[in-house]
Amino acid sequence: MTIERPAARPANPRFSSGPCAKPPTFELNKLAGVALGRSHRAAVGKDKLKAAIEGTRELLGIPADYRIGIVPASDTGAVEMALWSLLGERKVEMLAWESFGAGWVTDVVKQLKIDAEVKTADYGQIVDLASIDFNNDVVFTWNGTTSGVRVPNGDWIADDRAGLTICDATSAAFAMDLPWDKLDVTTFSWQKVLGGEAAHGMLILSPRAVERLESYTPAWPLPKIFRLTKGGKLIEGIFQGATINTPSMLAVEDYLFALDWARSVGGLQGLIARADANAQAIFDFCDQNDWIDNLAEDPATRSNTSVCLKFTDPRIRDGASFAKAVAKRLEVENVALDIGAYRDAPAGLRIWCGGTVETSDIQAMLPWLKWAFEAEIAAQAEAA
Ligand SMILES: Cc1ncc(COP(=O)(O)O)c(C=O)c1O
Repeated sequence: MTIERPAARPANPRFSSGPCAKPPTFELNKLAGVALGRSHRAAVGKDKLKAAIEGTRELLGIPADYRIGIVPASDTGAVEMALWSLLGERKVEMLAWESFGAGWVTDVVKQLKIDAEVKTADYGQIVDLASIDFNNDVVFTWNGTTSGVRVPNGDWIADDRAGLTICDATSAAFAMDLPWDKLDVTTFSWQKVLGGEAAHGMLILSPRAVERLESYTPAWPLPKIFRLTKGGKLIEGIFQGATINTPSMLAVEDYLFALDWARSVGGLQGLIARADANAQAIFDFCDQNDWIDNLAEDPATRSNTSVCLKFTDPRIRDGASFAKAVAKRLEVENVALDIGAYRDAPAGLRIWCGGTVETSDIQAMLPWLKWAFEAEIAAQAEAA
């Protein structure tokens, strides 16, 4: 049996969940203004770092009294700096429903050896958000990139909390509304929703997080790369573009380009609308096809960036090799790259829907997904 190939192909087959697609208008020559071979501490370098900080504040609507720092080691660096610098002052609750959240649990429980209360849920589900005690410090991931499950909003976070909220928002920032009054520490990396380069992370601190930094010293040693205070005072320079160590000015220039592009599509609300439209095209496809479904069980928790899918056809014999074979067919056809589920996640696909992806490309890719599914079902029957 021959299964007909769709006529149209996506103009851009890049649907990776990180590094994510560059902004559609990106070209390398648009970075020609980069301050290469200059000191990041010279005015030209420092001005660009400041512009990256203030552009982030403007686009994400971050309050003027929150500090925004550019830190080493991408989102991982930003999260770990926060965990190592802030935790241990009071009880900690760790929330995890996929592999990145689980990684932060390992950091806190096995490395820092904090006796934390760990709340976990399986892939596709979320923890009971009503059960959290905000007298504790609470660490969570806004959007679980490897399960496609996100918190529905910030309403579950207490306004009058005594503890801090530490939120890994790397696949949420620039695609979802983040309620800054509920978030004491927020992190993300440039390589995600804006399609920037990796290497640097963003660390956003509320005044309460700064207060903690200035009033509490952890029992464990902190390497220079994690140190946010000196003599009990916040190192303000970090939050004004005087980075702890040398940043990549090329990555900075690329981020500035991405911020400009974000402004050109209507800023945060424009970016959210683009991600929503992309994800909706996939949700509709799942509704129309009974062999595929969203991994996220509750529609209120479905991600609009890292949309994770599972195959549900009872004819499928080996779920993991079936999903891999479908992803491979799509890659060979150059219609969808890097859409296999994350290595620790259940078998399936993960399609990035952040704002740098064009809805027309998602729409052009989906008939290919149906084609690849049918081709693989046929191949499985032939092999039997
Ligand atoms: C939720 C989450 N946290 C952390 C990371 C790690 O980010 P990075 O590699 O930029 O440090 C990722 C990357 O995919 C992620 O999705």
